[in-house]
Amino acid sequence: MRMVKKYVVTPWEVSGDVDYSKIIKEFGVKPLDDKILARLKKHTGEVHYFLKRNIFFAHMYLDNILDELEKGNNFYLYTGRAPSGPVHLGHLIPWIFTKWLQDKFKVNLLFQIPDEEKFLFNKENTLEAIDYWTKDNILDIIAMGFDHKKTKIFRDTEYAGHMYKYACMAAKKITFSTIKSTFGLNDSHNIGLIFYTAMQSVPAFLPTVMEKNKTRVLIPCAIDQDVHFRLTRDVAESLGFPKPATILCRFLPALSYGGKMSSSIANAAIWTTDGPNAVKGKINKYAFSGGRDTLEEHRKKGGNPDIDVSYQWLTFFEENDRKLRKIYDDYKSGKLLSGELKQILIDKLNAFLEVHQKNREKAKNQVDKFILKD
Ligand code: TRP
Repeated sequence: MRMVKKYVVTPWEVSGDVDYSKIIKEFGVKPLDDKILARLKKHTGEVHYFLKRNIFFAHMYLDNILDELEKGNNFYLYTGRAPSGPVHLGHLIPWIFTKWLQDKFKVNLLFQIPDEEKFLFNKENTLEAIDYWTKDNILDIIAMGFDHKKTKIFRDTEYAGHMYKYACMAAKKITFSTIKSTFGLNDSHNIGLIFYTAMQSVPAFLPTVMEKNKTRVLIPCAIDQDVHFRLTRDVAESLGFPKPATILCRFLPALSYGGKMSSSIANAAIWTTDGPNAVKGKINKYAFSGGRDTLEEHRKKGGNPDIDVSYQWLTFFEENDRKLRKIYDDYKSGKLLSGELKQILIDKLNAFLEVHQKNREKAKNQVDKFILKD
């Protein structure tokens, strides 16, 4: 049996077994209920499987985005990535969804690369290493297929000239004590970290600046980032900007540990550059199984898909509801063995990565079309 581990969810640490219904209450966010999904569907025509499966499970102020849309006013999307290493499959979840939203609504997207964030956060990270990973990670972002006419990617260190004024406007309204209590920072943390949330707020204001007209922003991201935007929302209106909305997802579970798939535990992560054998090896070796100890027992009693990491991963990567249901039923009845379930996942991921890796290669010639600089 596996014990439930106590969880921690902050922008800089995610560990343990996250209880998402508790998080909704703790973070004061709203569930994505049937009512708001039905309203969204009026505009999108279909409901993405991430929504049906509660992978995107919460939001703040999505209703405001829909209100404005219904008045004929468009919005912007905004998301981001702080690079300090390679991109893994968990990072792609919000990006896949952002791409879907861009396709459905034909809206502009701002993609922030806060290349100072992980530099400030971790003593080990040098600016040179971050620069390397920034260039590398941008290929993964472009590989998602965002529309280059509607997407701008910018690094904080290269676009700060445009951002700094708005960061200062936000920073002036946020006290040190708010930062300490919101992020658990204390007097020993460096002052860059204290200021950082102001920089992450700025892209929520930029659409209004760019359009010279109050423009709403929807931020698809993992739940841990909402605290930044809670502060952004607290200051936005007094600065003349609409409060940004968020649409929030769960974490792709770690293969073998509680919490999210983490870059810092090498074996627990599948990188976007992993080849078919690496994927196969990692899933076979590390993916926590909900199967029984012996073949005989498994056939008789069946496996437990609800704790099986390979099954959980298929809920993120197998789009077809019918196929997924069959896998669930067959595993539970004992018809499908743990090794066979793993193989289904391996094939699915390798097919996905083959396409992603081709797009990543093509992205090398497209970078200039996306980048915004001072
Ligand atoms: N803080 C995020 C990270 O650690 C990066 C980020 C910046 C971001 N702006 C964002 C993420 C907006 C989601 C939405 O990777």
